[in-house]
Amino acid sequence: MELAGRTAVITGGASGIGLATATRMAAAGASLVLGDVEEAALAAAVETLANAGARVVGVACDVAVESDVIALREAALANFGAAHLIFNNAGVGAGPAIGTPKAVWDWVMGVNVDGVINGINAFVPLFLEQDEGHVVSTASLAGLGGVPGMGPYCASKFAVVGIAETLFHELRLSGKHVGASVLCPGFVRTRIDESERNLPEDLRDYNDDPTVRAIGVMASSAVRSGIDPSVVAEAVTTAVLENRFWILTHEHAAIRTSEQRVAWMSGGEPPRINLEGATRP
Ligand SMILES: NC(=O)c1ccc[n+]([C@@H]2O[C@H](COP(=O)([O-])OP(=O)(O)OC[C@H]3O[C@@H](n4cnc5c(N)ncnc54)[C@H](O)[C@@H]3O)[C@@H](O)[C@H]2O)c1
Repeated sequence: MELAGRTAVITGGASGIGLATATRMAAAGASLVLGDVEEAALAAAVETLANAGARVVGVACDVAVESDVIALREAALANFGAAHLIFNNAGVGAGPAIGTPKAVWDWVMGVNVDGVINGINAFVPLFLEQDEGHVVSTASLAGLGGVPGMGPYCASKFAVVGIAETLFHELRLSGKHVGASVLCPGFVRTRIDESERNLPEDLRDYNDDPTVRAIGVMASSAVRSGIDPSVVAEAVTTAVLENRFWILTHEHAAIRTSEQRVAWMSGGEPPRINLEGATRP
């Protein structure tokens, strides 16, 4: 797909990987619609991109709400006359599998899974009708293997991999020029470890288990030593241009995680989880 003159819609576009993807798409000549739940960060991102010459609009949006994601499509059509790319990028993480209240599971699943479903439902029919488009859904290495301390996050990212793979097969069967990719990064230097900034206040501080806290500190330090979001944005752009499904920015860790699961399924030992391994490409 050519990027110049196309319109890219990016959820969670105000920070981290979403903002880096927006910057990369603008450099390639695409127009941008950014959706984010953090309105101040969104306004700042739009201003920075516009000052650098991008054609960009920001729309306040909670991806868990279907009508908010439809509004992103309508903003693309109203401002730029079309939409060609949807990046289902917005995501949050919180809590282990043991001891996380159901409301926190619902919050993570709402953003990470319903957000992707809403993106597919809002954009894929349009892409099929115009016989052009690409859907990038953001999962994680945590969508390829379980990680202690990340129960709802792993559940949601396994779901995203399943949805994206199914979408890929269905699009291929359709014979249309609409592509699908899934992004499975290891650790990237963003604010993902501060996801709970967007968690409704009454749901915070639900877990003071010292082991869980220690895992949180380890995960934060892994995020801090992760790769730069611009590296992810470059890999995403290449995958769209080459119409490739798997975007594995930490390929070695992704393949090793998958191989270890197969060995475990085949009667071998369960893998020992080492967060350090997921910081390196
Ligand atoms: N950073 C990592 O190490 C890493 C690794 C693997 C996968 N990911 C995934 O990458 C994606 C982007 O995260 P990031 O690392 O850039 O984190 P980030 O926190 O820097 O950015 C996420 C953005 O999503 C927005 N957001 C949160 N909830 C939202 C909602 N309900 N509706 C709309 N926007 C919402 C946030 O305001 C923020 O701007 C996520 O799906 C995340 O799970 C990140």
